[in-house]
Amino acid sequence: MWMNMGYWEHTPKFPEACESLLVEVLRAGLLKDKSQILRILDVGCGCGDSSLYLTRKIHTDSVYASIRDSGSQAHAQVITNQRPIDTYVGVTLVPEQAALAQQRINESRKLDQGAESGFAEVFCADAANPSSWPGELKDSISDMADTSSDPKVGTWVLALDTMYHYHPSRLPLFQYANSTLNASIMAFDLILGPETSWKQRFFLRFTCWLTRLPYGNFVSQEEYKNLLVRAGQPLHSAIVHWPLALIISAHGFDALQLGLPFIPAHIVNYLPTTTELSIISYYILSLGLLTGLAAVVTGIYQASRLVARLGGVYDADKKAIKPKVKTLVAHAALNDIVLLSSAAYWRTRREAGGAASVPDATMLAVGVALGSIQLFAAGLGRSLVSTAGAGKAKKSQ
Ligand SMILES: C[S@@+](CC[C@H](N)C(=O)[O-])C[C@H]1O[C@@H](n2cnc3c(N)ncnc32)[C@H](O)[C@@H]1O
Repeated sequence: MWMNMGYWEHTPKFPEACESLLVEVLRAGLLKDKSQILRILDVGCGCGDSSLYLTRKIHTDSVYASIRDSGSQAHAQVITNQRPIDTYVGVTLVPEQAALAQQRINESRKLDQGAESGFAEVFCADAANPSSWPGELKDSISDMADTSSDPKVGTWVLALDTMYHYHPSRLPLFQYANSTLNASIMAFDLILGPETSWKQRFFLRFTCWLTRLPYGNFVSQEEYKNLLVRAGQPLHSAIVHWPLALIISAHGFDALQLGLPFIPAHIVNYLPTTTELSIISYYILSLGLLTGLAAVVTGIYQASRLVARLGGVYDADKKAIKPKVKTLVAHAALNDIVLLSSAAYWRTRREAGGAASVPDATMLAVGVALGSIQLFAAGLGRSLVSTAGAGKAKKSQ
């Protein structure tokens, strides 16, 4: 009852080719996974062939034992790296498929009486829209979500030949996998080749129209990667640009006020007056402080996830704090100092008359210093994203 496109290198038979495709995806995904226990959410699981393949192995040793011998070193590594799958959750859009898949799992378990069994359930739900999932499905995977930051547990979303069907896009599933499940993704999926001609695109569009597939799902490799990056961008990374831009601009206008006496008169004529600059900077700072509060809340959440992903605050010998955690603390502390000092600065101005007050040179200089510290702290934040993967989706294959 397999229904995927198959991997035909070693066999001319359809069921074997379909199973081989699953094996290829598992191999690509799990090769570098060092966890001891696996939890799999199998989206678009069809009539349960992948469910049977994966859950049967719960009773025996591991899925790897049956991966066909390709003679490659990678294969040998996978085989020796045997781990049990203790939770399997399948999802498919078609109720009959979900019922059949569950029935096949139950029957296979009866045959396997006495063997130790992990959790294995199949649900009917729209994998493209995790917010619509029924409560029982959410309950079943809440355990996966709870333990997903445990380094001993590998949490995976498996999508075998299904995601190009998703209306309107794969993005909500990617976001859910990253933000709720903290899971990696392994998939067989379709993308456009670099040399797809306009005729092929036209034919594809027509096929999509006939089969009701979203044409927008057929993207280039680059666009696909961007989608994954977008899914990995948490709220903090999106929000933090607002206070950053607003507070730095407010202090930038302060700097301009300080610099006005040194700018040639014919240029000053085209610039806002000191009073206007004061008003602009006051209101921009007010907005910056408001968005800064949201950035602090989302920042605390993201920091806790980063620490979990790094495996804790301390090095393996428990003597020193990890360098990335130090960068994280410096980034947070400097930003908090800027935020609190800017709030005090704003309060002083408010008490002096609000937007109408013109700050003196000392205050303006403080503003410029705060803006500079904030730029430095933003650089630390950027380095956390690039070196520690803060806010990035986990690996995908
Ligand atoms: C080509 S079949 C692959 C089935 C299975 N993975 C296999 O290898 O045999 C695509 C599967 O994706 C499921 N599917 C399509 N859109 C879906 C959606 N939005 N949510 C859940 N499943 C979906 C279909 O019901 C079907 O079972």
